[in-house]
Amino acid sequence: MSTPAIQQPVFLCGMMGAGKSTVGQALATLATLPFTDLDREVETTAGKSIAEIFRDDGEPAFRTLESSLLLSLAESAAGVVALGGGALQNQHLVDHIKLQGWLVFLNPPIDLLAKRLHHRKGRPLLQQSDRALRDILTEKMEQRLPFYQQAHITVSADSGKPDETAQQILKKIRTHEGNA
Ligand code: S3P
Repeated sequence: MSTPAIQQPVFLCGMMGAGKSTVGQALATLATLPFTDLDREVETTAGKSIAEIFRDDGEPAFRTLESSLLLSLAESAAGVVALGGGALQNQHLVDHIKLQGWLVFLNPPIDLLAKRLHHRKGRPLLQQSDRALRDILTEKMEQRLPFYQQAHITVSADSGKPDETAQQILKKIRTHEGNA
């Protein structure tokens, strides 16, 4: 049997608009591995969209479902998993994910995130139309950076070319696996 391109599951974290889903898909294709999107798992389990979960049940209910699915995915995941921007809610989750696989942080500049997210569609946390998008993103980033920064691997993911970022990640993972 041939050796898989990556020996442990890969979890992609980072802000909304960082490209976790597109880069995750590209990395999975490149490494011939399955791809899972945590947001889609949440929607499938709840039987409704994330916007509907926030509207009907509130953010705390969303976070409870998100973290329980993340914990169970971490046990069984193979391949590449894209997390939601707020999925690393606490130190316990970060520690758990890092024990199960590679944690990769996609970290494009806030200005690029704001540009990509200007329509704010489908993302309940961005629906405060009276606040500048950049301010909301900066505030969230400040809260989340202490968790994101614990990733094994960080990439700037600012080229707008998911295949290029995926190549970069694969190369870094191979170096880490070679050293592990
Ligand atoms: C969220 C990010 C979203 C989704 C939800 C909350 C966040 O996922 O999980 O709207 O708290 O940053 P993406 O990062 O894939 O947009």
